[in-house]
Amino acid sequence: MHVELRGIEKRFPGVVANHDVDLTIRPGAVHALIGENGAGKSTLMKILYGVQAPDGGTIVVDGEERRFASPTDAIDIGIGMVFQHFMLADNLTVLENVVLGAEKLHGIGEKARSQVREICEAYGFDLDPDALVATLGVAARQRVEILKVLYRGATLIILDEPTAVLVPQEVQALFANLRDLVASGRSVLFISHKLDEVLEIADDITVMRRGTTVGTADPRTATKQELAELMVGAELPSPELGEDTVTDVPILTLSGIGLTSDTGRRLLDDVDLTVHRGEIVGIAGVEGNGQTELVEVIMGMRRATSGAITLAEEDITRLSTRKVRERGVGFIPEDRHRHGVVLDFPLWENRILGHQTTRRVTRGPLLNPGGARADAERIIADYDVRTPSVHTSARALSGGNQQKFIVGREMSGEPVLLLASHPTRGVDVGAQAAIWDHIRRARHDGLGVLLISADLDELIGLSDRLEVILRGRITAHFDPDHVTAQELGTAMTGGAA
Ligand SMILES: Nc1ncnc2c1ncn2[C@@H]1O[C@H](COP(=O)(O)OP(=O)(O)OP(=O)(O)O)[C@@H](O)[C@H]1O
Ligand SMILES: [Mg+2]
Repeated sequence: MHVELRGIEKRFPGVVANHDVDLTIRPGAVHALIGENGAGKSTLMKILYGVQAPDGGTIVVDGEERRFASPTDAIDIGIGMVFQHFMLADNLTVLENVVLGAEKLHGIGEKARSQVREICEAYGFDLDPDALVATLGVAARQRVEILKVLYRGATLIILDEPTAVLVPQEVQALFANLRDLVASGRSVLFISHKLDEVLEIADDITVMRRGTTVGTADPRTATKQELAELMVGAELPSPELGEDTVTDVPILTLSGIGLTSDTGRRLLDDVDLTVHRGEIVGIAGVEGNGQTELVEVIMGMRRATSGAITLAEEDITRLSTRKVRERGVGFIPEDRHRHGVVLDFPLWENRILGHQTTRRVTRGPLLNPGGARADAERIIADYDVRTPSVHTSARALSGGNQQKFIVGREMSGEPVLLLASHPTRGVDVGAQAAIWDHIRRARHDGLGVLLISADLDELIGLSDRLEVILRGRITAHFDPDHVTAQELGTAMTGGAA
């Protein structure tokens, strides 16, 4: 599919999201769209997919000018989109998810099933059509989303930050799929903040900044540095810790933690773990190996079946989430829409979430809206959250800006322990450096951090110590100064180091 976007305009209250945007997508090519948080990438793609109507400009597809009243119109001419947050129904099977809403194509019976099987074979998708989506990991869910788009006959596939949630091995598998797609003449539009990956997979690169396209780059000759400069006008950051601040005072100790699911599956198995003051302990693992459960058990969101958790010499094994937070635990959740923000609340109210009992946002037993607003203003300034005001709803923020706000909130009030799941997921290179700086500074003042990340460079660069989690067990330890991403990846998948 050949697409020409010309002079696209889109305004929201207080924000020009797209201004004079030009973009050309070629058939048979992977086109990467990059740019700082809030640059207008997702907005542009929502316009191309018919989710949002532009205020101006034209969309020309294979020589014909098009106007989309809804995604149905875009899908009809072969445009498919996989969103930053997946939209599958958990309680349905793979097949049901794919066929749902597209019954008119091949019905819901054998014909549909064989069609799905054919696409899976053509692209080497290893998916059981009868598996419940609830039982699938992120990488498999993403394949279902792509399958769904292909089933509808897409010849342009838009992927908004598809690799943010994947570990390196899964990224390579996705890239192999994308190469097959473009080899068959389709077009792929790929949004990412990971510049290495962009240089690896893209045939064309377009850069956006402050709502407009500022240029294109040639992936055969461009460097990461040049891309970063085009995007944010900044030097590329690297997560290095500098001086050693690790103490021998434990802040968090897990001993013999076990967790068994309702169906008797071992989710966590005899986990021993200590985080000291001034120390960052990184947890490396392929997603779905117990990281989520580990965090939930510490946060009091689930009860451990065995073992004990100590925070600053106090047994917190049976404390509620609120009580754990009151002890000074900051929590950056892996799913920011489920546990991080309430999308329809303004930012200042989101400042209060989870912190209803902390001083800056309360006055005695009452909430203190003035305090919450002032503190939300502080976070917006300190973490460079791009928003018209504290009264803007979280939904109106770009993905990366929502993440920056959550990190800022969880670092408020001098926590003693930070549980950070993918703290820089979806943020641009400049914001990533700023978040690393904030964490490093707090570590210097004695903060202990349990860091979970799919970004191995971040894990190796930021951690004082690394633990590998596999099938609910801690299976290996590494000194980040003496381990490569390759070795870590091998340990994560259970291979010999
Ligand atoms: N529904 C909306 N209502 C109001 N403002 C919006 C809405 N959607 C986006 N915006 C604003 O438009 C601008 C562009 O947002 P967009 O989501 O397109 O950025 P992005 O480039 O995808 O950023 P990120 O890398 O963080 O995902 C931002 O300032 C955002 O706050
Ligand atoms: Mg976005």
